[in-house]
Amino acid sequence: MSGVTAVKPKEVYLIHDLNLWYGSHHALKNINLSIPEYEITAIIGPSGCGKSTFIKTLNLMINMVPNVKMTGEINYNGKNVLNSKVDLVELRKNVGMVFQKGNPFPQSIFDNVAYGPRIHGLKNKKELNERVEKALIDVALWDEVKDRLQSPALGLSGGQQQRLCIARALATNPDVLLMDEPTSALDPVSTLKIEELMLKLKEKYTIAIVTHNMQQASRISDQTAFFLMGELIECNDTMKMFSSPDDARTKDYITGRFG
Ligand SMILES: Nc1ncnc2c1ncn2[C@@H]1O[C@H](COP(=O)(O)OP(=O)(O)O)[C@@H](O)[C@H]1O
Ligand SMILES: [Mg+2]
Repeated sequence: MSGVTAVKPKEVYLIHDLNLWYGSHHALKNINLSIPEYEITAIIGPSGCGKSTFIKTLNLMINMVPNVKMTGEINYNGKNVLNSKVDLVELRKNVGMVFQKGNPFPQSIFDNVAYGPRIHGLKNKKELNERVEKALIDVALWDEVKDRLQSPALGLSGGQQQRLCIARALATNPDVLLMDEPTSALDPVSTLKIEELMLKLKEKYTIAIVTHNMQQASRISDQTAFFLMGELIECNDTMKMFSSPDDARTKDYITGRFG
């Protein structure tokens, strides 16, 4: 036997036969997928295929939508979060989320980042300051804002606002970061900055990102999941997916035949 064995990363999420309906609309169909720790999973597919729906199931943000029904299992660190006993506040602290449009609150830079820790009861001023500083360092924003932490967050540029929202998500010390098209409203330079940031963040966090930008998926992700009309068509190693996908529909999509 060879002395070298590949160490398989831990699976943070194991999703089994996940189905989701909005009323009578069957939006996710028998999804089976795992999300490995400290990797970036990209979710791609044409508009309306269920990408946002899927990513919102991972921290049960989807529960905010009325008339949603789900079956199957979403195992997060070994526990099925579809089990009614799950603590939603705790889950969302551990699984942070960032949306397409950077959406800072109309408050100071500091208060935006301190928001989560405060909700979770962190009152000690020194600890709060440290937590905010660490999150802002993590998103490479600290040097740009450290002299104006009390200024309005809405005065930041679009790219800075998006990094601030990432810092806000990181401030509760999550282990997973979900991002839904986080760069689609940004210019190419800000986009590149966020991509570089994600490659750094995956050393400490597990990341799932929805993107309609296939170059972005191929640049930053380790595995890619391709959705089509509510089905997961293929989930594969990103290099393999973009060079020789297993499914003809994936090939058609990534070569730009539709979508
Ligand atoms: N709140 C909702 N109520 C009813 N249907 C919805 C809702 N959100 C999304 N859908 C439908 O579910 C499908 C998947 O939507 P979505 O997950 O937003 O797709 P994507 O993010 O891939 O563009 C679409 O047909 C969409 O119209
Ligand atoms: Mg979407």
